[in-house]
Amino acid sequence: MELNRRTVIAGAAAAGLAATTLGPGTAQAAVPGGKPVKHLFGRLADGTKVYRWSLANGGTRLKVLSYGGIVQSLEVPDRHGRHANVVAGFAGLDDYVASSPYFGALIGRYGNRIGKGRFTLDGTAYQLSVNDGENSLHGGAKGFDKHVWDVEPFTRGSDVGLRLYYTSVDGEMGYPGTLRSKVTYTLDRHGAWRIDYEATTNRATVVNLTSHVYWNLAGEGSGTIEDHELTIAASRYTPTDAGLIPTGELARVGGTPFDFRRAKPIGRDIRAGHVQQVQAKGYDHNWALDKGITAGPKHVATLRDPRSGRTLAIATDQPGLQFYSGNFLDGTLTGTGGRTYRQGDALCLETQHFPDSPNHANFPSTVLRPGQTYRTSTVHTFGT
Ligand code: GLA
Repeated sequence: MELNRRTVIAGAAAAGLAATTLGPGTAQAAVPGGKPVKHLFGRLADGTKVYRWSLANGGTRLKVLSYGGIVQSLEVPDRHGRHANVVAGFAGLDDYVASSPYFGALIGRYGNRIGKGRFTLDGTAYQLSVNDGENSLHGGAKGFDKHVWDVEPFTRGSDVGLRLYYTSVDGEMGYPGTLRSKVTYTLDRHGAWRIDYEATTNRATVVNLTSHVYWNLAGEGSGTIEDHELTIAASRYTPTDAGLIPTGELARVGGTPFDFRRAKPIGRDIRAGHVQQVQAKGYDHNWALDKGITAGPKHVATLRDPRSGRTLAIATDQPGLQFYSGNFLDGTLTGTGGRTYRQGDALCLETQHFPDSPNHANFPSTVLRPGQTYRTSTVHTFGT
């Protein structure tokens, strides 16, 4: 028996396998800085296996599903060194498939909305899958959040991470071009979580990938995020119509509830009754970051929970940040720890290009052409 096990392990090492596969229910913690480990998380209706990968480094513990590249759990310490899971999610695969509002998922091909699911590129009109009233949201009815990705673990120096691959065929959800996407999640030795996105196409298309993690720095299921303090380095945001499609205007935040240039508790102005908040049921807008598009990630936002002391700093090369205050959470979903999520129990900070860019010539372009490589990066740094 013992000999057999050794042989198997030696064989796996010889084959250069960077990971251990465990059966369902087998608990094995990822060793900080060590190789990511995976176990079976569940099966889709057609029998496809979904794995959950665990990795840890520098005090951060991350659990990622091959389904949707979903960050199911992300644990970081508070000011007393106590870890908590600070992202909303579900305990089991079935809930992710049946009713997830994009908890923790990778979003593609296009983060946020495209008006009426229509755009024209190089003189050709495209009709996308419409899944949010008359609009297309987060890539359409079956976006990147609802596909199983190929996952490859790695260690590199003191970094630990996962590379996730998904190829979306020409015409999927109405988008032109076969889009090959690669997303890399890296935990560095300080516990920072970095996301690098890459994509190529064989026909001109539009692309806007992002991550839809829902944060609650006091701990998932612990109540409202209205006391979290938020800073966003943006003097302008993109107001929307009633369907949450940008009007095309870049409005000043000064003197409005949208001003987060200095740290402010999210709840302070959330009931101010500004027409933009009334139609969105809170904050659900794109902030046009003052720094614009940058060659590398630059700091753009900080979130702080005064109770636990936990902080999250976000740096990105992208021009926009969608701040969504969890407005559609309505007490019907039961989260990872067994508690229900009510409105405002978690929030999203999605680094991205502006929503509906393909229909606004004054917004930075989201067009990707054959021969080009789409590349963007976002870094999440945790502290207390
Ligand atoms: C984004 C959108 C919101 C909502 C959530 C998911 O943040 O902007 O309007 O669709 O995703 O519920």
